[in-house]
Amino acid sequence: MKSETVTITDNSTGKSIECPVLRGTYGPPVIDTAGLYKGLGMFTLDPGFVTTASCRSAITYLDGEKGILLHRGYPIEQLAEQSSFLEVSYLLIHGELPTKEQFEEYETQIKKYNMVHEHLMRFFNGYRYDAHPMSVMVGVTGAMASFYHEEVDVKNPEDRLKIAYRLIAKMPNIASKTYKHGIGQPFIYPDNSLGYVENLMNMMFAIPSEPYELHPKAVSALDKLLILHADHEQNASTSTVRLSGSSEANPLAAISAGIATLWGKAHGGANEAVLHMLEEIGDPKNVSKFVARAKDKNDDYRLMGFGHRVYKNYDPRATIISKACHEVLDEMDPHSELRPLMEIAMELEEIALKDDYFIERKLYPNVDFYSGIILRALGIPTSMFTVFFAMARSAGWIANWLELMEDPDFRIGRPRQLYIGSEKRDYVPIDKRG
Ligand code: ACO
Repeated sequence: MKSETVTITDNSTGKSIECPVLRGTYGPPVIDTAGLYKGLGMFTLDPGFVTTASCRSAITYLDGEKGILLHRGYPIEQLAEQSSFLEVSYLLIHGELPTKEQFEEYETQIKKYNMVHEHLMRFFNGYRYDAHPMSVMVGVTGAMASFYHEEVDVKNPEDRLKIAYRLIAKMPNIASKTYKHGIGQPFIYPDNSLGYVENLMNMMFAIPSEPYELHPKAVSALDKLLILHADHEQNASTSTVRLSGSSEANPLAAISAGIATLWGKAHGGANEAVLHMLEEIGDPKNVSKFVARAKDKNDDYRLMGFGHRVYKNYDPRATIISKACHEVLDEMDPHSELRPLMEIAMELEEIALKDDYFIERKLYPNVDFYSGIILRALGIPTSMFTVFFAMARSAGWIANWLELMEDPDFRIGRPRQLYIGSEKRDYVPIDKRG
């Protein structure tokens, strides 16, 4: 059978090369341009990697036009409805859903690793009480690399799996300590009689002086939220983890780089920005004023929680989360301060979805539009929102790191550039410069 190729011709020299066209299970075909420099002496330029596949991956598939998101082939809707975050993390890491025995063994391992070294606790105290939790997460996760540096041989599959389990196990512990440090409460240790999400909530909200009662609805809403954020293909933070990992850096240091990337408001920081935006809007009657600002070419204001690099139809996670958000609010006190925010969010969604500006640019609410409201309803402060995202996305990051380390094409990531600086020139001593 004739293999598929694309011919790329340099019109200035008439020289051509044939580039293989690769087809995956789904998605557009991909042109393999690896031979371009050798054949034509050229690079490709694609700012923001809009049309560049950076790797082969079997973890997650998403179709932004059709609003499809699959993890290892399983639709996100089914996982959110029927699975748990812990099971999804197993699926992402191992590629298959676990049997009952495999899941029990996994849960036992995760519980075994969920403590953090006592010396790691001291890192929290180095931060001011008002440090942004994402800054603490970047630092403490990076610091954790030093605790496991000698025993992680990145070339050894057993070491790799062990550090992956350690990461999944310790993230709730680190996240909750980040919170406790900020509010000045004592750290709560993991309690292995509790499930993964229950343990997380207990470490966040329990205090030593009185019992803490877990609300099953809150646990299941948070579990769902973690599933929805667990992985999302080659986004900015996952690509960062892969690029750091490609130098054979300590995987926890690579995860710390991923957390730093996630922090930005164009990425994971959007859930925090959405809440600030809703509070700033203040009343449903002000929505149209803010929509007008978002549309104004001379104003760089954007509606947070709207738009996505890949989803140009709707974000399937937003559909699930919007439903969960209404459920959580229905459970809550009717006088909750969140109801007005929810009303503003609904008004904003309605106005924007009917507006030509948003329709033409295919700007729909993304997962972060509603996730902040759920987190706030669960009593999680705004500055901690992205920490919860980071905790969930750790599963996707480490699954991608494991895949990278096993990739037969493994090599250090080293993008090229189009140099547009000065031509070569001679150094002029300072007293001779005009
Ligand atoms: N509000 C108003 N206008 C917008 C918005 C928005 N939220 N997002 C994009 N646009 C407009 C742009 O101004 C641009 O208009 P133009 O064509 O007239 O110049 C057009 O839509 C395309 O925007 P780009 O910036 O080119 O789109 P890109 O794919 O690079 O950006 C991004 C995607 C960063 C998510 C963007 O939509 C955005 O900033 N959204 C708000 C932040 C947000 O919610 N981020 C969360 C992303 S999801 C996640 O990380 C989990």
